[in-house]
Amino acid sequence: MSGTIETMNHLNERDLEDLCEATDDAIIDGNGFGWLKPPPRRILESYWKGVLLVPERELLCARLDERIVGSIQLLKPPPNNEAGAHIATLSTFFIAPWARGHGLARGLLADAEHAARAQGFEVLDLDVRASQTAAIRLYENAGFRRWAVKPGYARIDGTYVDGYFYTKSLKSTAQRPKAATVSGRPEAAGAHDSPA
Ligand SMILES: CC(C)(COP(=O)(O)OP(=O)(O)OC[C@H]1O[C@@H](n2cnc3c(N)ncnc32)[C@H](O)[C@@H]1OP(=O)(O)O)[C@@H](O)C(=O)NCCC(=O)NCCS
Repeated sequence: MSGTIETMNHLNERDLEDLCEATDDAIIDGNGFGWLKPPPRRILESYWKGVLLVPERELLCARLDERIVGSIQLLKPPPNNEAGAHIATLSTFFIAPWARGHGLARGLLADAEHAARAQGFEVLDLDVRASQTAAIRLYENAGFRRWAVKPGYARIDGTYVDGYFYTKSLKSTAQRPKAATVSGRPEAAGAHDSPA
């Protein structure tokens, strides 16, 4: 199996279909960046097409054997937020359940951080449900520091779940986080296609 990470400027029909399927699978599994059940396909397609149109959003996708199986977005501050121009945020981070365990999430996170650094951002923020233990472990291993807990961050089937807020200074080290490995083969690490 071979895995790669790509910055997406365009989604062809096949890519869009794969991304929507991966999103559906992640939602059904229990984390759909807000969605609790898969929306109609046309809504999902519009969502992903819309992401590509927003200049402040950078979409990175993971492929496993050519198929898109997951994503992360780097959200950049809008031009009116001059005071917060140094802070980027991560969002919509997931790998389809059947494609997990190949190092692709680590690769997505590393490449998104690399893209943020390359564009001069000094801080990377994210938030996550307290129940997402795999993601939390990944973030903490990548050097993110939890700075706040928000009670009632998400309501799932009538039950409230805390939210954890994380931040990472990109100024402190010039080092990249551990590179992605796919199927334990470091040389197969994400084909870094980060923006300039
Ligand atoms: C978090 C997630 C993206 C990880 O995907 P993945 O493909 O399994 O991750 P990787 O194979 O790259 O593994 C990354 C690390 O996480 C660890 N990990 C993966 N699943 C784990 C689990 N269930 N429990 C503990 N650690 C786990 C791996 O051991 C690996 O650790 P290492 O870097 O020390 O080797 C995936 O579980 C997912 O999509 N979860 C639901 C969505 C989600 O929670 N998103 C975050 C919302 S903000």
